[in-house]
Parts: sequence; structure tokens; C-alpha cells
Amino acid sequence: MLCCVGREADRAFKFTMTTNLSVSQESTLYMSSHRSDLTSLAERYGSDKGDSDHQYTRLYDMLFAPRRDDELNLLEFGLQNHGPEIPGISSDRELTSIASIDMWLDYFPRANVYGFDICDFSDFKRDRFRFIQGDQGKLEDIQGVLEACDSYDIIIDDASHASYHQQLAFVTLFPHLRAGGLYIIEDLQWQGKVYEKGCRTSHKTRDLFAKFIKTGEFPKKTHPIERERFQALAKDINIVLMPNDNFNHWGKAKLAIIHKLA
Ligand SMILES: C[S@@+](CC[C@H](N)C(=O)[O-])C[C@H]1O[C@@H](n2cnc3c(N)ncnc32)[C@H](O)[C@@H]1O
Repeated sequence: MLCCVGREADRAFKFTMTTNLSVSQESTLYMSSHRSDLTSLAERYGSDKGDSDHQYTRLYDMLFAPRRDDELNLLEFGLQNHGPEIPGISSDRELTSIASIDMWLDYFPRANVYGFDICDFSDFKRDRFRFIQGDQGKLEDIQGVLEACDSYDIIIDDASHASYHQQLAFVTLFPHLRAGGLYIIEDLQWQGKVYEKGCRTSHKTRDLFAKFIKTGEFPKKTHPIERERFQALAKDINIVLMPNDNFNHWGKAKLAIIHKLA
């Protein structure tokens, strides 16, 4: 039996903790008290998802923290700001960082992180990171991410922001989201003119999901993607959240968070 006071008692406590915990519990305990939250990581790596811009990371932290140490597969569409979604910028622009990918790799220490972009980020090498190049407006390119990995826990669409692209990626990839997974579409308030004009959709993505929230069904007309493709996914959707009280400078929802039934 251990019986100690003062500094000795501290040591004894440490000893008891050490002997009673498995190695992984011990490291989790250590890590959880020393790790940065997602908002700090966004600032550190320069992602626009943090407090200085879109302010998504506090919400994401709330959603993702319970799974932080899991061996997840995370896929993000769109890797570096100011790409060809902005008129006049070409896909062979100079590439300098993969801020959000570095943020995810740091936040989720055991995750495999996949990144998809029209620009060629293949020179950016990281452990646990794989890049897939493609155009979000092309079905065969989107399907390319399934060759890299065919089931994901978290998918974040932060690429072209064009309604058709977002919807094509959603109908193609939601079936490959694992049960209980999260599919998030960012920046619903903004569509670049060039892409948006290039392929007319019946609905902006925000309106499409707003309709689903109100009625439990997707709109009757979803040109150019057949409504049946959306409707077939409805049975697997637990809830769609479109928070619009936060991110208040826009006054309208900027995010669609789609939770797949567990
Ligand atoms: C908003 S930025 C991504 C920002 C990054 N996720 C972050 O948090 O720092 C948008 C990205 O989408 C990419 N993009 C633009 N059009 C695309 C398309 N048609 N297909 C795939 N990616 C595209 C751009 O190259 C750019 O890297």
C-alpha cells in the first residue's frame, strides 16, 4: 500500500495512473491536455476556416473532437485559396501551401487525409496525405477519389463552390460516406460567376438543402442531376443542419452539414 504526502504523494499519484492505464490511454491523456484546438491550428497554418475569416472551426471542433483520435478517412475538396473559382485565375497558378490539409493532419493524428483539386498539388508530400487531381465538374474525376479510398468518415467540399459541382460531388460521394459520417459543404453564400454560368442548375445548393430540411424531400426538379439520385440518398440522411445565426456578416447559412444515419 502506498502512503505518502506532498511531493511524494504527487509521484505516487503519477505512479498509480501509469500502472492503471494502458499505453494508449496514457498517451491520450497526455495529448489531450497539450493539444491545440482547431481554431488555433487554422491560424497556425493559415486556413481561412478560423476566426479571422469564415469562423467554421469552433463548430467543427464541437463536431469532430470526440473522434479526434480515431483512424479516420477525411477528404477535402479544394486545397488553397484564390484558385480558378475566381474569374481570371488559371489552374496553373503558383501553389504555395496546403493550409487546411496541414491543419487536418495536425488535428487528427491518426487520420488519412485525402485532398482533391483542379490545380496540381502533387509536389506537396506529407505522411498520411494523398492528393488526387481533378475537376469537380466532371463525374469521372470525382470518381477518382474512390480509387484512392472508397469510404470516408468526413467529406468537406471547399472547392469551386459552383452549385452543380457541389451537387454532383454530393450525389456521387454521399453513398461512400460511412454510417455516422459527416458531409459538409462550405461557403454556400458564394458562387463564382464563370462556373455557375457554365452549368445551370435548378437550385442553388443552399436552396436544395433548405427544401430538404423543410419537407424531408429534395425539390421536384433538380436539373441537370436527376431528382431520383438525390431522393435515393434521403433514407440515409439523419439530419441536415444549416446554421445561420453564426457567421453573421452574411445573415444566411454558409454551411450545409449532412449527417449520415449511424
Ligand atoms: C476556397 S479554396 C480552398 C481553401 C482551403 N480548403 C482552405 O481552407 O485553405 C478553393 C479551391 O478549389 C479549387 N478549385 C477551383 N475550381 C475547381 C474545380 N473545378 N475542381 C476542383 N477544384 C477546384 C481551387 O484550386 C482552390 O484550391
